[in-house]
Amino acid sequence: MPYYFAQGTIPPKRHIQFRKPGGGLYSEQLVSTEGFSDAYSITYHIHPPTLVTAIDESYSVAPEIAISNNAQHRSLQGFSVKPQDDFLLSRVPVLVNNDLYLSLAAPRKSMTDYFYRNASADELLFIHEGKGVLHTMYGEIPFTYGDHVVIPRGVTYRIEFETEQNRLFIVESFTPFRFPKRYVNHFGQLLEHSPLSERDIRTPQNLVTHDEKGDFKVLIKKNDLIFPYHFATHLFFVVGWDGCHYTWSFSIHDFEPITGRLHQPPPVHQTLEANNFVMCAFVPRLYDYHPLSIPAPYNHSNVDSDEVLYYVDGEFMSRKHVDRGQITLHPIGLVHGPHPGAVEKSIGKKETNELAVMVDTFKPLKLTRQAMEIEDKDYYKSWME
Ligand SMILES: [Fe+2]
Repeated sequence: MPYYFAQGTIPPKRHIQFRKPGGGLYSEQLVSTEGFSDAYSITYHIHPPTLVTAIDESYSVAPEIAISNNAQHRSLQGFSVKPQDDFLLSRVPVLVNNDLYLSLAAPRKSMTDYFYRNASADELLFIHEGKGVLHTMYGEIPFTYGDHVVIPRGVTYRIEFETEQNRLFIVESFTPFRFPKRYVNHFGQLLEHSPLSERDIRTPQNLVTHDEKGDFKVLIKKNDLIFPYHFATHLFFVVGWDGCHYTWSFSIHDFEPITGRLHQPPPVHQTLEANNFVMCAFVPRLYDYHPLSIPAPYNHSNVDSDEVLYYVDGEFMSRKHVDRGQITLHPIGLVHGPHPGAVEKSIGKKETNELAVMVDTFKPLKLTRQAMEIEDKDYYKSWME
């Protein structure tokens, strides 16, 4: 989905002899998607990327489903998820279906003694709090508050935090993330009316080649199981690569909102999509400017999508008592709308400072056991207040 990019040293042609200064050949790897039919990159390694020494016993990290058929508005206090030192252990799945898993995480420490690879899903880490660097064989992606870090499936990574207080909202998608088709021309370029442009996309930088041998553990997640693999070499020992398959990021703060004289529908807030779901960013913006406009949204029946809103910062004009890190779920089959008084209160307001990430799924979401532990049980009655 991103454009062609190259880092480090690569030979003038694909699949030809490419020799190290000492004379030996670099190992070439093709990283390809949809078989050989979609985005790919070619990487050049100091050692073969295949040197497996051992595989430990696999273990399950499958979400524990508490409610598989949800027909109720829900609200979860995301920041009630307990911080944990380890990045993988800190990840708490809350809403899941066959297209995606939504998780919350408050990891305290960097990954130091293992690498991680999700073999089943592309991952998007939304950085609500914290700062650090994502390391991959493609290079480094520094991240901070508001970043969406996109990690295609199969990419081995190691996350390093500069901070102890980190809050992440994680989307695991079982199909690749892409920009909405209406924003992309047939050359793959983002069009003039897209809220994001190529200038907002951050590509890997600082390619560091780790020529290290030893015991390097990679936790490979596949179909809800973790397979602990051991390799004889460091995993990031690339001298150069090129192609269109790599990690990348953009900031919610670079999303340029589309506004109008009348209330604009949620698709103007869209950032990304994958099969059976879309993602949006609600960012600070000027309100509608028709003299009789009502900035608060109308009541809304999402006939065939579950709406998930993850509240980041600012004040939300349509709701009362919203906390940072709160998640609301307004499912298929029910009407939701502004809280009492919110419509009148919004009239005459000029701008909003709200910041939120939305995920709309076209198939119903299930709630996990951990989601029930952080649920506000009376939320479904909150329109009666
Ligand atoms: Fe809605």
